Amino acid sequence: MLSESLKAKFEEIIARYPLKRSAIVPLLMFGQDEIGYVSDELIEEVARAVGVPAIEVIEDVGYYSMLHRQPIGKYNLQVCTNVSCMLRGGEAIFAHCSKRLGIGHKQTTPDGLFSLEEVECIGACCGAPAMQVNYDYYENLTPAKVDQLIDQLREAHRNLGSGTGE
Ligand code: FES
Repeated sequence: MLSESLKAKFEEIIARYPLKRSAIVPLLMFGQDEIGYVSDELIEEVARAVGVPAIEVIEDVGYYSMLHRQPIGKYNLQVCTNVSCMLRGGEAIFAHCSKRLGIGHKQTTPDGLFSLEEVECIGACCGAPAMQVNYDYYENLTPAKVDQLIDQLREAHRNLGSGTGE
């Protein structure tokens, strides 16, 4: 069941587009942010909201790599290994993330905190090697910077947990 605030958000987004179906991807992104992945129910809801068959929404989900049909980690590390990043150590950065987290491409740590993906260009070539974590970009990476970032994310998660009224 989608939250009332998400349904209201859907209406607000759809109103911005002359063609309702143009809102499919933004709706899926907001839905994924709330639910954690693109569930069957989310697909049905988006299809209903924009007035298209569910198969059209499913086709969009299959096209965009940032949309996930299975739950992923709270922090999704997308490491670019395309040309600019590859030339500046992107593959070594991916390997370092993989070793540090103990997971491979499109895998999630057992605690559900981190997912890892090797991706194509994320448009941050000037800062190669680069990666994207959820909506944030990290550039000119080194293994030490990656370690620092992972530690910071773990710490941030721990602080969030301890700030929930315990
Ligand atoms: S090649 Fe890595 S961001 Fe463009």
